[in-house]
Amino acid sequence: MTSTEATDLGRALCIITGASRGFGQTVAREMSRLVKPGSVLVLTARSGDELRALQAELAESEAGRAGLVVKCVVADVGQMEGLEGIVRAAKEAFSEDIDHVILVNNAASLGDVSRYAKSFTDMAEVDSYLSLNVSSSLCLTASVVQAFPQRPGLRRTVINITSLCALQPFRSWVLYCTGKAAREMMFRVLAEEEPDLRVLSYSPGPLDTAMQMVARSKTADPNLRKSFSDMYAHGQLLTCEASCAKLMKLLLEDNYTSGAHIDIYDV
Ligand SMILES: NC(=O)c1ccc[n+]([C@@H]2O[C@H](COP(=O)([O-])OP(=O)(O)OC[C@H]3O[C@@H](n4cnc5c(N)ncnc54)[C@H](OP(=O)(O)O)[C@@H]3O)[C@@H](O)[C@H]2O)c1
Repeated sequence: MTSTEATDLGRALCIITGASRGFGQTVAREMSRLVKPGSVLVLTARSGDELRALQAELAESEAGRAGLVVKCVVADVGQMEGLEGIVRAAKEAFSEDIDHVILVNNAASLGDVSRYAKSFTDMAEVDSYLSLNVSSSLCLTASVVQAFPQRPGLRRTVINITSLCALQPFRSWVLYCTGKAAREMMFRVLAEEEPDLRVLSYSPGPLDTAMQMVARSKTADPNLRKSFSDMYAHGQLLTCEASCAKLMKLLLEDNYTSGAHIDIYDV
C-alpha cells in the first residue's frame, strides 16, 4: 500500500450495470465493503430475481447492517426507458452527504461469435448490438455526468469495463471487438473534455463467467475457440474476485491517468 492510498471509497453512490451475475455482481459485493456507512448502491440488470437476491445478501452483510442502502433497477440498458429508470433511481438515492459518485459501465454482450465479419450484412442486427454495447454506455454516462454536476467536495468516477478486444482483433468476434474499441475511445474523449472526472477503462482478464462459457462453446474461429477451452481446462481463467480486487486497488490508489486502458496484468 502506498502512503497516499485510501482505505475506503468515501460515502458513495455507486451505479453498477450488469450486477445480476459475473463480474458486475462481484463488483457490487466488493464495493459494498469499501464504501462508508450511508452509501448507496444502485444495482441494475434485466434479471430481477438475481438482483433482489444480491440486495438481500448485502442487506444481511456487515455493510448492510451498518446502513448501506441497496436499490435494484430492473432495466434493459439497450432501451432508453431502461437508462431513464436507472438515472431516476440514482437521483432519488442521492443526498448531500454523498461525496463520491461512481458509475461502473459493466453490462455487455458478446454478440454472435459463431460467424465471421463477412456475414454481417444486416444493418439492424449490427445497430442493435452497438445500441446495447456502445450507445447505452455513452448515454448512461452522459446522463449521470449531467445529473451529478461538478461541485466542491464531490468526486466523480466513471469506469468502463473493457477488454483486450478493444486493442486487438479476434477472428469471429467482430461485434465485440468493434464495440469495445468504440466504447474505449468514447471514454478517452470524455476524459479529455472533463478533467475533473476520473475515467478508467479496466480490462479484467479472462474470467470464469457465463460470457466465457459462450466464448468457448460458440466461437467460430477454431484456434480461438480452442484457446478458450484450453484456458478453462487448465484452470487458467481468473475468478471475478481476484480481478475485482485489482480494480478496487486502482480505485483506492486513484493515481491512474484519467482515460487510460489498464489491464489486470498491469496492476
Ligand atoms: N468474462 C470475460 O472473460 C471477460 C473478459 C474481458 C472483459 N469482460 C467484460 O466484463 C464485463 C462483465 O462480463 P461477464 O463475463 O461478467 O458477463 P456476463 O456473465 O455475461 O454478465 C453480463 C451482465 O450484463 C448484463 N446485461 C447483459 N445484457 C443486458 C441488457 N440488455 N440490459 C441490462 N443488463 C444487461 C447481464 O444481466 P441480465 O442478463 O440480467 O440483464 C449480466 O449481469 C463485460 O463488460 C465484459 O465484456 C469479460
